[in-house]
Amino acid sequence: MYRTNTCGELRIGDAGSQVTLAGWVQRSRKMGGMTFVDLRDRYGITQIVFDNDTNAELCETANKLGREYVVQVTGKVAERTSKNPNLPTGDIEILATDLKILNRSDVPPFTIEDNTDGGDDLRMRYRYLDLRRNCVRNNLELRHRMAFEIRRYLDKHGFIEVETPILIKSTPEGARDFVVPSRMNPGEFYALPQSPQTFKQLLMVSGFDRYFQIVKCFRDEDLRADRQPEFTQIDCEMSFVEQEDVLDMFEGLVKHIFKYVKDIDFTEPFPRMTWADAMRLYGSDKPDTRFGMQFVELKDLTGGAGFSVMDDAEYVGAIVAPGCAAYTRKQLDQLTDFVKRPQVGAKGMMWVKLEQDGSIKSSVGKFYSDEVLRTWLERGEAKPGDLMLILAGQTMKTRKQLNELRLHVGTELGLRDPNKFSCLWVVDFPLFEWDDETQRYYAMHHPFTAPNPDDINMLESDTGAVRATAYDMVVNGNELGGGSIRIHDAELQDKMFRLLGLSEEEARYKFGFLMNAFKYGAPPHGGLAFGFDRFVSILAGLDSIRDVIAFPKNNSGRDTMIDAPSVIDQSQLDELKIAVVADE
Ligand code: AMO
Repeated sequence: MYRTNTCGELRIGDAGSQVTLAGWVQRSRKMGGMTFVDLRDRYGITQIVFDNDTNAELCETANKLGREYVVQVTGKVAERTSKNPNLPTGDIEILATDLKILNRSDVPPFTIEDNTDGGDDLRMRYRYLDLRRNCVRNNLELRHRMAFEIRRYLDKHGFIEVETPILIKSTPEGARDFVVPSRMNPGEFYALPQSPQTFKQLLMVSGFDRYFQIVKCFRDEDLRADRQPEFTQIDCEMSFVEQEDVLDMFEGLVKHIFKYVKDIDFTEPFPRMTWADAMRLYGSDKPDTRFGMQFVELKDLTGGAGFSVMDDAEYVGAIVAPGCAAYTRKQLDQLTDFVKRPQVGAKGMMWVKLEQDGSIKSSVGKFYSDEVLRTWLERGEAKPGDLMLILAGQTMKTRKQLNELRLHVGTELGLRDPNKFSCLWVVDFPLFEWDDETQRYYAMHHPFTAPNPDDINMLESDTGAVRATAYDMVVNGNELGGGSIRIHDAELQDKMFRLLGLSEEEARYKFGFLMNAFKYGAPPHGGLAFGFDRFVSILAGLDSIRDVIAFPKNNSGRDTMIDAPSVIDQSQLDELKIAVVADE
């Protein structure tokens, strides 16, 4: 037996008992004739004491222990004279009588502490050491507990977990596919699933009624803090349901997990907002509703002053930053610099201050009288001491810029409290999205999404205005999940493909299997998928999903630990009949 107890287990009540522990040397220090070693494992840290007076030889071995050595220690549990209230085991120590070195360790490239000296790159290269750190391991423990609890909830509600294949045919979800060459079928490729979308719909045709899967998905897209090339979805589908049934079931899941992990009770139903309102009030389909500062539209109040920035603009929008009238010139310039950054892309920013004494100051004071400016402030319900920030330009672009500004100011004012959670359903997404470059419509969610029944007659006449039966779950400005009611009628699906510019032949080539299946009695069905990594990171209070993934990729899609992707042998390429063209 390697150990009788873990390093996080022993308490004052165990004093006097003989124990054996095994773990890693966190640190050791020599004080007079004593050597103290902090021994660490997954469960905690226990202090081990070696006394030169009672066993000099043992103490000498202990003095040679390096950081991260793996050791086994036997001894007696004793009450500590100087207790450590920060450690659950801080009341006791082990008076060692035996020490065995199970393995030595090179000096690790960074310290295995919560506040480590390792930068991101180093931590990722030595991720197995990084994972020894409590803070990182805690995130993975949370991930485990959440997965477990999600499975319990879904099982209780009759969902069956079914695994779907990883080597599939390309599924269109808007991102690029990762492809895998087939040796047995030279010149042909599998695609890794961007999601199990078509399979879960087939399972509904098969009568499974309620399906779920905690499943890896793969998307070859540009990476950000909340995006990884391989990520995990909680993928779900239900038969004989309408939108309301789906929202109900999965609102229940989200509430259950919040209660379980955070002990937060959401007693009220989650608010719902149409996509159109989300864009109008927040300039985003995933608004952060932890704070106000909704957009105010001013276009009708800004004309006739001969000020071309306003006159030529299709849209004029503003936010009111509470209590910010005292902002200095420098602070205002910094906000202007922020909106002018290429990532935001505005040409400039205008402002109006409603001073505490009721007077008005503005960057556009020479174009507009105080009376006019006051009408703007009134529309924004500005109070004395508030600051109105204004952007003007093309509607959608300006709304997006104003969204960035709102989030930036919200962060500056400390309004985006990581311990506050604001959940929201965004509903009534448009079915289609027009792309200027290719001059065609794309499915905003995916081509299997059902149009809103009230809008079906507009499919051909007013395609862009058709609403989808699609919904997103948004938490603190993050898209946590999304889904839709599906088309289950082969004829309507056909029409949808046509509107998306797919010829009959193309549609058959790509989705023939689904169209065929639909001929054999497809039930009405719908579902959604949550981003599991995002779910965990939101509850762990993290900005990036990387720290809730055991072995993540960096922003260039590389795993620097295993050094992937990498070139493969010529013989492998030959076998696959693949020739690599050198980059020019
Ligand atoms: P969607 O594409 O919206 O829907 O994806 C569902 C959820 O998955 C998460 N997500 C990601 N997480 C990390 N890295 C990524 N690259 C990434 N891409 C997406 C998001 C998102 O809300 N088949 C449909 C669902 C359905 O209709 O049922 C789908 O995949 O949290």
